Amino acid sequence: MRNDLPIDVSVVVPTYCEADNIALLAPRVAAALEPLKPLNIGWELVIVDDDSRDGTDVVCEKLVAEGLPVRLIVRTDERDLSTAVVHGFNQARGRILIAMDADLSHPPEALPDMRRRIDDGADFAIASRFTAGGAISDDWPWWRLLASRVAALPAAPITKVSDPMSGFFAVSRRCFEQAAPLRPIGYKIALELLAKCPVKDVAEVPIRFTDRQIGKSKVSLKQAFLYLRHLRLLYHHVYPNWSETLHFLSIGATGVVVDIAAYLLLVHSLDVHHVSAKALSFVAASVSNWALNRRYSFVRAEKPPLSQQLPKFLAVAAIGAMFNVALYWLLTTLSAWFSAHRLAALLVATVVTSAWNFLASKLLVFKTAFR
Ligand code: GDD
Ligand code: MN
Repeated sequence: MRNDLPIDVSVVVPTYCEADNIALLAPRVAAALEPLKPLNIGWELVIVDDDSRDGTDVVCEKLVAEGLPVRLIVRTDERDLSTAVVHGFNQARGRILIAMDADLSHPPEALPDMRRRIDDGADFAIASRFTAGGAISDDWPWWRLLASRVAALPAAPITKVSDPMSGFFAVSRRCFEQAAPLRPIGYKIALELLAKCPVKDVAEVPIRFTDRQIGKSKVSLKQAFLYLRHLRLLYHHVYPNWSETLHFLSIGATGVVVDIAAYLLLVHSLDVHHVSAKALSFVAASVSNWALNRRYSFVRAEKPPLSQQLPKFLAVAAIGAMFNVALYWLLTTLSAWFSAHRLAALLVATVVTSAWNFLASKLLVFKTAFR
């Protein structure tokens, strides 16, 4: 086996307790890629293991002794599929970077095809169970198939590929190196890269996905929550203004609840005069809105100390509140129609105030420009 060729393809495999699978996977990867050597295409298999201590190191040593270009990287400081893949890509030497699972769910026989699609000009190639020619093990019950399809729906605004959940994909090094700062969480590393790399042309490669025979899936309920958090961050990245607006409005709705709850508590349990209670409940709601917006809406903003930012936010909210009442008063006094339809006046005042609150918070308090 010649291992002196420049490395063209790096196959990166994140692993956690997959020693037995690696022993089966590596020869299949070799069988798929060795025939490319006469074309001057060298390859390497990079295993990024998160300190499994299950004999992964012994298996890798044995594979190396057999002449396979296998490299084992053991991380002891982190345990996460996505960051393992990014770590592997950063350490890889190939011009084409490919990620795949260790458990033989992804057929290594598709590797030459994945490579070729990048060679033919795609920036990204993703193995798909759902594109024409792709398939899933026949024994998937309908609910598992449905769950997998439903989970993919929220990814539609981010990418149009048919199987955005796939963990088997290839990306050119050039494209990967131009990625916006990566912050992957959980399992959906392909989604992260599709959103953050300058991907212009995606190729889909049909594969037949087979369930693992050895070992256990590491996916748990925790991954579902991490996925939702990951999606939120990706929406913020791809559609920053829309995402900020939607987050701001949802948080505004929680503010109304805080306002009412604080008011009731102050008046009924603490015997505070109702006007003072209203003033205090307004402050409580505004502080809560500020904290939530700082954390969830304006994620790209810098985070100055509370003493600098909170007073500004309160001022914006107070101006908004006064404006709200003034506008309601003006509409109902000056317009006969509004004075007969006071609820409509209230609605208009609320909408205009929300727009003011949002724009002033965005541009003056959190200072995230439109882009
Ligand atoms: N380094 C590292 N650290 N690797 C991990 C970790 C981790 O914390 N967790 C899982 N892995 C490795 C596994 O050892 C395996 O090689 C691969 O990541 C996939 O893990 P599985 O536990 O087999 O995941 P799955 O089959 O449920 O999910 C796969 O298929 C999904 C689509 O059905 C993954 O490819 C998902 O990304 C994909 O969405
Ligand atoms: Mn698996």
